[in-house]
Amino acid sequence: MKKFKRIGVLTSGGDAPGMNAAVRAVTRTALANGIECVGIRRGWQGLITSDFVPLTRESVGHILSRGGTILFTARSDDFLSEKGRLRAVNTCKMLGLDGIVAIGGDGTFRGALELSRLGVPVVGIPATIDNDVGCTNYTIGFDTACNTAIECIDRLRDTMQSHERCSIVEVMGRNAGFLALYVGISVGATAVLVPEHETDFQRDVVERIQGSRLAGNTHFMIVVAEGAGSAVELGQKIKEAVGMEPRVTILGHIQRGGAPNARDRETATRMGYYAVNAFVEGRGNCIIGTKEGSIVEIPIEEALVMEKHLQMDRYQIMEAMQFGGTINRVDR
Ligand code: F6P
Repeated sequence: MKKFKRIGVLTSGGDAPGMNAAVRAVTRTALANGIECVGIRRGWQGLITSDFVPLTRESVGHILSRGGTILFTARSDDFLSEKGRLRAVNTCKMLGLDGIVAIGGDGTFRGALELSRLGVPVVGIPATIDNDVGCTNYTIGFDTACNTAIECIDRLRDTMQSHERCSIVEVMGRNAGFLALYVGISVGATAVLVPEHETDFQRDVVERIQGSRLAGNTHFMIVVAEGAGSAVELGQKIKEAVGMEPRVTILGHIQRGGAPNARDRETATRMGYYAVNAFVEGRGNCIIGTKEGSIVEIPIEEALVMEKHLQMDRYQIMEAMQFGGTINRVDR
């Protein structure tokens, strides 16, 4: 069985609340098992340029509650080339790294797979506010980002209510609608537009606003996933179709900041622990995920072809909340 003496940990791609908690868990679990831990700064790029910092029990103290990532993050173009990846392998040799824990999303794991093919064992920890990683039910940062968006929208609702307006809020999520749908349900949105459900403007927006108005509402909240189209264009269309002057808010990067909540701290800590455990038990080249609340380990090649679908029952439930209509069939 391969004995791991020193490992590297990095954060890559868009940051997510809870990444620091995962770095701390990786470091402390490694140290508890007699393994040294080195922080690679700026993601895969840092592995190419040998940008590193030794991590100690103390240096990862008081980061559990901090948003962002103390290791910085980047999206590395150099790592996309064989030349860049070979330089990264050299850094691993130079630093004596027996394995790498990579914290990030899908793009990060594609990089991890390439590195594993060059002989460096890797373990991935999913962290992205998009929750769009196929092999895991949950990605670190999603819950905090939902709560941040909800808090912002609750504030918006106050002023929209006073002015009897229509509000359009664009949330992040890249090509996935998880963030938009969970947030939409949680704020009681009039309509939620997600990339996974083709939008019929008349049915999904106009009629829902009209129905809501007939039900006695005087303000309307539309939540749009960034992957479902432009909130500004939607605002223009609503203005023309319904004769209202909607206000558009793009929440943007505010959703990525802030202290991780309980779920993200706890999940990140468990994932960090199990990631190092995989190395301790002589395994590598896997992604740590969650399934029905428990931690699972999926071989990286398998993990990267797994697909994740938006739960359309949630979409139907969101629709039913507005009018209390009959749900024909809810697939769970
Ligand atoms: O993947 C996380 C994410 O925040 C997406 O929701 C968004 O599309 C993207 O990153 C924004 O990336 P950047 O930070 O490069 O603007």
